Amino acid sequence: MNRIIPFILIFACLPKLPFPQWLTDFTGLKEWPGLDPPYIPLDFIDFSKVVDIPLHQQAQCTDPILRSSKSCSFDCFNCVEFDDVYTCPQLSQTFDDGPSPWTIKLLKNLQVKKTRTTLFTLGVNIIRYPEIYQESHARGHIMGSHTWSHKFLPSLTNEQVVAQIEWSIWAMNATAGHLPKWFRPPFGGIDNRIRSILRQFGMQAVLWDFDTFDWKMLDLANNRNEADVFSDVTRFHARNKGKGLMLEHDAIERTVDLGIKLHNNVMKEQLTVPQCVGGIDYIKTFR
Ligand SMILES: *[C@@H]1O[C@H](CO)[C@@H](O)[C@H](O)[C@H]1NC(C)=O
Ligand SMILES: [Zn+2]
Repeated sequence: MNRIIPFILIFACLPKLPFPQWLTDFTGLKEWPGLDPPYIPLDFIDFSKVVDIPLHQQAQCTDPILRSSKSCSFDCFNCVEFDDVYTCPQLSQTFDDGPSPWTIKLLKNLQVKKTRTTLFTLGVNIIRYPEIYQESHARGHIMGSHTWSHKFLPSLTNEQVVAQIEWSIWAMNATAGHLPKWFRPPFGGIDNRIRSILRQFGMQAVLWDFDTFDWKMLDLANNRNEADVFSDVTRFHARNKGKGLMLEHDAIERTVDLGIKLHNNVMKEQLTVPQCVGGIDYIKTFR
């Protein structure tokens, strides 16, 4: 599976979301971090319970331990664990890498058919587009975490992984007053070390059984366009008997337009991730 090209949109502009006082009290900081957020210790994280698996870079899957059930690497071998979500009784879309200026266009079109979807958001984009995050949440969509700044987690230390998760949670809490339950690892980068950290936050990984590779349309060299994705999805829909969980992106207008077209033509009836598995929407809500 080719997930080497990073798909991410990070705008070089100032954060719009104020840094809340409770976060200053807890971290001693006064502003949102950059792409390498500092690790802030949390009393409920026990590093002695983190599964010991060697770090690896994206697509570096030769270490035999990565092939073992001890590691259960999704990015290398599509391995899933008992608490991973990776499919759905009704073929459903999920969107990563927002919020972005195109997110609202997507949601307006989904609303025409009263569809609710699941959005896996980046902390760095939440603090730039807090009102888009809030509007997405207010429209009833499920907001999940996609880390703070889209790093490939299996290449990071335990402390760096905690930092990527905690800062994304804080951005979501500061924007809409909730703590996420659902987590999508960037590039599908997850193994049992990452899972053992994620579970200590009470969160679960959401993977997929159908990758649209919608981002490949953005590079001519990939020779992939809307019609290719559309026919792949249509075929999967028939072959998988209307079940499945799809990976798409809402950070670019072209992939948003495709998402709308797929929704209107292939999967009019959809479920959110918690509906797929009968789970809760959020761990906690404050407002
Ligand atoms: C979430 O935000 C509330 C304030 O709305 C704060 O009291 C609480 O400590 C925050 N919790 C986390 C885990 O961010
Ligand atoms: Zn992503």
